[in-house]
Amino acid sequence: MPERPTIFVLNGPNLDQLGTREPEIYGHRTLEELEQLCRAEGETLAVDIAFRQDNAEHRIVNDIHQAARSAAGLVINPAAFTHYSYSIVDALRACKCPIVEVHLTNLQARSEGWRSVSLVSPIVNGVISGLGFEGYVAAIRWIANGLGRDPARE
Ligand code: DQA
Repeated sequence: MPERPTIFVLNGPNLDQLGTREPEIYGHRTLEELEQLCRAEGETLAVDIAFRQDNAEHRIVNDIHQAARSAAGLVINPAAFTHYSYSIVDALRACKCPIVEVHLTNLQARSEGWRSVSLVSPIVNGVISGLGFEGYVAAIRWIANGLGRDPARE
């Protein structure tokens, strides 16, 4: 059987605390539930999902390097690193696959002004911000649906 394409879903710091971390902002569902949702979507679309979360910047950089070598696409919620990590930006720049930046909350609607600045947005294909867990599903779907597309015909 031919190998299925893999979509990497990477999550930055504090997202392991989903469910208990500021539930009035991030909701009551956990990272495990998010992973299950992403995997279920992967099954529907016949793609493998490599789902990761890390609180350490260098390990996320390593994950992006791995994605650059093998992924059909990358969904990333860099969490707070969105706002200041040049090393994550540089790693993403070297990724040739489609990349979607996802945030659970609408960064433009958050009260802290620094959240509305993303270093990542200018170098990715698209951004989904504020659609909660559904944003991840939409990002996976967009990548998977584009896999069979011939860019020469667009
Ligand atoms: C977040 C928004 C970031 O500003 C914050 O640091 C996070 C989560 C989101 O998913 O809404 O940790 O990326």
